[in-house]
Order: sequence, then C-alpha cells, then structure tokens
Amino acid sequence: MLSERSPQLVGRAPAFLQALTLIERMARYDAPVLIVGETGTGKELAARAIHYQSERRDAPFVPLNCGAVPETLIESELFGCERGAFTDARQARSGLIAAAEGGTLFLDELDSLPLRAQVSLLRFLQDYRYRPVGGTRECSGDVRVVAAASPRLHELLQTGAFRDDLAFRLNVLLLEMPPLRDRPGDARVLAEHFIARHARQHALPPRALAPGCVDWIARYAWPGNVRELDNRVQRALLLSDGEELDLRPCGTGMSHAVRSTSDVPASASDLRAFNDARDEAMLHFERSYLEQLMHSAHGNVTHAARLAGKERRALGKLLKKHGLERNTFDAPN
Ligand SMILES: Nc1ncnc2c1ncn2[C@@H]1O[C@H](COP(=O)(O)OP(=O)(O)OP(=O)(O)O)[C@@H](O)[C@H]1O
Ligand SMILES: [Mg+2]
Repeated sequence: MLSERSPQLVGRAPAFLQALTLIERMARYDAPVLIVGETGTGKELAARAIHYQSERRDAPFVPLNCGAVPETLIESELFGCERGAFTDARQARSGLIAAAEGGTLFLDELDSLPLRAQVSLLRFLQDYRYRPVGGTRECSGDVRVVAAASPRLHELLQTGAFRDDLAFRLNVLLLEMPPLRDRPGDARVLAEHFIARHARQHALPPRALAPGCVDWIARYAWPGNVRELDNRVQRALLLSDGEELDLRPCGTGMSHAVRSTSDVPASASDLRAFNDARDEAMLHFERSYLEQLMHSAHGNVTHAARLAGKERRALGKLLKKHGLERNTFDAPN
C-alpha cells in the first residue's frame, strides 16, 4: 500500500534511475534542493522522498504553494507575525518555518514567489535567522528547504522576474525530473502500476492493457506527464467495461463528456500557478477539440483541416503532438 509518508517512485528508465540516485544522495545532506520539471513529472513526490529518506524524517514535511498565497501574506505565512502586525492580527502567530522545525519546508511553485518574498527568503537562507512580521525578535529555524519550479524558471531568470542570487542559493543541489517522453518504457510500467493501485482502491478486478494501446502509450508525448497517465488510467478503469483497458482517447468506453480535473474547483491549497494552470487547460482543450474534430471528419486529416480552418500541415503537427492517429477515427461510431 502506498503511503503519503514514504511515496513509491515507480520507473526504470535510465533518466529516472539517475534522478532516484540523486534523491538518495541528496537525502544525506542538509543543503537546499531545487527540483525542476514539467507539470506532473513527480516534483512533489521527489521532495517527499528526499525528506523521508533523510535524518529529518521524523520531523514534519511542510509544503507551501507559493502561487496560492496572496502576495501580501506570504511573509507572514513563512515567518509568522507578532500581535498587531496587521489590523486583523489579534494574536501572534507562528509561521511555516516554525511548523517545519527540525524537518523540511517544501516551497512548491517557487517560480510564482513574488519578488519581495524572494528577498526575504534569500535573507533567511543566508543564516537561517528571521524576524516574524511586525516584530523585532529574532528567531532561528532549523529547516531544510526544498523548492520545486517549472522549467519556466529559466525564462524568469533571464528576464529578471526571478532573482538569480536566490536561484544560486537554492540550486546547490539541482534535481531535474525528466518528462515521461524521455523515459522509454516507463509509461507502460507506470500504467500497470496505476491500474493495480486504482483497481485495489476501488475494489475492481485488475485489467490488462489492450494490446493495441501498448504501442500508443509508448509513442504518445504525455504532455501532462505522470499525472495525465494516472488520470487516464483512472478514467478508463472507472468508465469502461471489458477485459482489457484502453487508454487511447477514443478507446473503448472513453467518454468525451468526462470533465478533466482542471474543471473541478480547487481548494486554496490546490491552486496552481496561473501559467501552469493555463498551459494544462490549453492542452486539455487542444486534445478534446482534436478528438471531436477527427471524429467528425472520420479520420480524414484534409477534411478535418478544412472543418477547423487550419492548414493541413499544422493540424498534422498538432495531432502528432497529442499522439492522435487518424486510423483511430476511421469508423463513425
Ligand atoms: N515515479 C512515479 N511513480 C508513481 N507515481 C508518480 C510518479 N511520479 C509522479 N507520480 C504521481 O503523479 C502525480 C503527479 O506527481 P507530482 O504531484 O509529484 O508532480 P509535480 O511535478 O509536483 O506536478 P505539478 O508541477 O503539476 O505540481 C501524483 O499523483 C504522483 O503520485
Ligand atoms: Mg506539484
């Protein structure tokens, strides 16, 4: 059984095994870690693995989604505040650094951290001392900082929207989580892992992957990475019948009406950085549009291009990006 405390990281592709080796080594030390990777590549899972493999495992792992907290509140979230620091701060409140004492502070979506908070974080990382907002008392925090960012961090550094001194301080240990498309064989291994896991969870009989979809799994680009694979497995498992499971967009029992997770209202702690959420929504839109389009055109790309008002070549590229094959749509159904 998977547990939140010791997450199971599944995969055997060389790029992934290299990341696992780094995680194991990084767990031995206390230096800050920066985890960079596309959406759904397992950055949070890696951060938890570092914590639970480290000497700090019995102290808390405290996550903060830097994109979900209003800019004005980030510093008091991190450092706490003294009584009267704000009009509504009637009592002193300790922050997440204090909550993570002895453990790990996980700064998720670091690329969304506003510039002012970047300065405060940098100051904290220099000597691990800080002052709660509105106070003069100096505190010290025994925490290890592990941060996660999307690859857009590189652009933000170039444009100056992210401070390079903070990036230098954080990426003493840099862990790059590889996208699923660069992990040959892993999509299938993970698909089988998720089938077994969700079948158990929902008390359903485990099912084998449909032979026709195995090849597709290996060729599909998985823009949403492991999370997308997990979602596809769950959807197929819950919404289709039969002996075999097909993860392809128009596979057995796949419903176009299924809402994606991005349609479900998120709680504040689940909120994502705007750009990441937009990119994911865009990918979702593209995919469901293309599926419907190709369905209507019965797999005829020229006809589909005409219907969509796009160049045939451009449409072909989009279809390839989403791993959609024209012959899947041949027969009207
Ligand atoms: N190697 C893996 N083995 C098993 N499950 C995995 C693996 N990698 C990711 N997952 C699962 O995929 C989902 C996404 O992982 P996670 O939340 O760690 O990704 P992330 O990089 O933080 O994504 P985002 O950038 O969107 O926040 C989670 O449900 C996680 O449990
Ligand atoms: Mg994450």
